[in-house]
Amino acid sequence: MTIQGRSPASSTPTSTVGRGRAARTVDPARVSGAWSDASISVRLGDSLTLYEEWDTPTVIVSDGGYGVLGFEGDTTDHLGLPDWYEPHIAAWSRRATPRTTLWFWNSEVGWAAVHPVLEAHGWRYVNANIWNKGKGHIAGNVNTSRIRRFPVVSEMCVQYVFEARLDGLVLKEWLLREWKRTGLPLRKANEACGVADAAVRKYLDQGHLWYFPPPDMFVKMQAYANRHGEPSGRPYLSIDGERPGTAEQWAALRAKFDCPHGFTNVWDRPALRGKERYKVNGESGKAVHLNQKPLDLVSMLVEASSDEGDVVWEPFGGLFTACLAARSIHRRGFGGEIDPTYFHHGVRRLREAGSQLPLA
Ligand SMILES: C[S@@+](CC[C@H](N)C(=O)[O-])C[C@H]1O[C@@H](n2cnc3c(N)ncnc32)[C@H](O)[C@@H]1O
Repeated sequence: MTIQGRSPASSTPTSTVGRGRAARTVDPARVSGAWSDASISVRLGDSLTLYEEWDTPTVIVSDGGYGVLGFEGDTTDHLGLPDWYEPHIAAWSRRATPRTTLWFWNSEVGWAAVHPVLEAHGWRYVNANIWNKGKGHIAGNVNTSRIRRFPVVSEMCVQYVFEARLDGLVLKEWLLREWKRTGLPLRKANEACGVADAAVRKYLDQGHLWYFPPPDMFVKMQAYANRHGEPSGRPYLSIDGERPGTAEQWAALRAKFDCPHGFTNVWDRPALRGKERYKVNGESGKAVHLNQKPLDLVSMLVEASSDEGDVVWEPFGGLFTACLAARSIHRRGFGGEIDPTYFHHGVRRLREAGSQLPLA
């Protein structure tokens, strides 16, 4: 007996038919294609045509296709997702810097399918976070003997950073190469940093024990290498290729991250309910977008990975939750939404929330 396997992702045709939307379709001719205020700039259109106009991102919040026909243009299953995301990921890589963090929202299998594409384009996996919506999300409505699996109450939000490279090497390779170039024994790195053995163990390790040297330690290594290293090879640990590297230059090679107190990688947070869902006709109406994300979680991500004034990209805007979060914590947001109905309501939401902001 032969068991037929599934065809590879690239041969799976992608669907362009989304599930029925709750909000009545808005006539595209009535929708203005752009809206902005002092902090946010959003456009109606395919984000692929917008990235080049947006300022350099410190944070990208991606909440696009899930392979569940969640909106028009989403694919029928996860096998179509790598092709769906690839042009976006390539564009993000062209505009990202080593300071940039990507928060990639998806289902667990959707993320698994897209992960190799992210890695191939220079995004380094940091952490998989799980949004646990809790049992309330299924409320006894699941027939497990029919679905034959445990009911799913989670979504993934995976943290990636844009990997810095110097001379084509990732930082841990570059640091070791530079130290070896000096002709000094590795153990001298400990002396340089004034530690017993931590510098060799952490900063020159080539495996998973490697740590990014804090900027003050980097400067100590740099100063020692340039003072004691083979004179003909100087400068050592130079980031611009001309002068020894500074603390500021080194710090800029790492994405920002400041962990909020008390959080782990499991976020217990109920699915959106009641007032949190943005509705068509105020509280009595229907929810506008099935995929609206919780504002508190998205704000937490943006805050953890950026500083005031930094730029947040939201390529798959929906109701522009990340732009709203960006504005409320004094970042700048750029968003795109391809569907005129969602764009119309997303802008309405931004306007309404803006009118409720306290005057600065
Ligand atoms: C999962 S929803 C995002 C929901 C959003 N995070 C929120 O909180 O409201 C994805 C959205 O991306 C939009 N979209 C899909 N492809 C797009 C593209 N190429 N450019 C811009 N928007 C796109 C869809 O129309 C959909 O509204």
